[in-house]
Amino acid sequence: MIKKLTLSALSALMLTAGAAAANEDIEIEDVAFSFEGPFGVYDKAQLQRGLQVYTEVCSACHGLKYVPLRTLEDLGYSEKEVRAYASQFEIYDPELDDTRPRRPTDHFPMSSLANAPDLSLMAKARAGFKGPYGTGINQLFKGIGGPEHIVAILTGFTGKEKEQAGSTLYENRAFPSGYMAMTPPLSGEDVEFADGSPNDLKSEAEDVAAFLMWAAEPKMMVRKKFGFLAVFMLTVLSVLLYLTNKRLWRPVKHPTQS
Ligand code: HEC
Repeated sequence: MIKKLTLSALSALMLTAGAAAANEDIEIEDVAFSFEGPFGVYDKAQLQRGLQVYTEVCSACHGLKYVPLRTLEDLGYSEKEVRAYASQFEIYDPELDDTRPRRPTDHFPMSSLANAPDLSLMAKARAGFKGPYGTGINQLFKGIGGPEHIVAILTGFTGKEKEQAGSTLYENRAFPSGYMAMTPPLSGEDVEFADGSPNDLKSEAEDVAAFLMWAAEPKMMVRKKFGFLAVFMLTVLSVLLYLTNKRLWRPVKHPTQS
């Protein structure tokens, strides 16, 4: 029985090791995003640039259907600006039995291209960094790597393409199967930023990845603050408990002193 168990445990281990090894040649570069680390915060100017890249390029195919348009106020836009932004997307309103411009209370549209995945949660759905054999050591230091995965996809096209079952596939170094159905969406200088920020391929990719991280986790700073407060309170509590414990047992441990 024990032998059987050990054998199956061993083979399971070897199988996972094999699966991890298959992806090992995908090298994902770490990006120093402003929101990383225990005190990291979103850079609103970067999020606004990312929104611009999303709106002008990605939204042609990809939706953000879980993101309410009104939350764009978090990026530093006024209510009026958000209303103006929302109105460029149409929505079918069953009450009017017609389409109308979206309002801040509506969500972003869903993907307009059937095989383009919704990007609302993409930055949290993908893990860019895998520890050695999935131990999670890498994640501890660099984060899960969702936004880095997006940057790697956007900058990973090699320029090679192939036909498969009637559709064109594009070679991408960061895509697990090597070829993906997305045409390279960015090539650098695709958008013009109002503040004159660099618009080379890498900057655009990082800006849109930061924006997608915000879309997937708009309350990241609140979560970090809460976590920090909780750890601080627990530390104080542990010290108090230790001292109380010492005091309570003192008469037992040192009967002569009390
Ligand atoms: C012409 C349509 C089109 C445009 C424009 C486009 N995409 Fe895509 N995208 C796709 C399709 C189709 C897929 C699915 C690819 C596949 O599964 O092979 C995809 C997949 C993805 C993925 C998923 C990769 C994964 O790990 O599964 C990400 C991330 C992504 N796109 C980001 C973007 C970003 C960011 C932009 C804007 C800069 C963008 N896309 C612009 C069509 C598009």
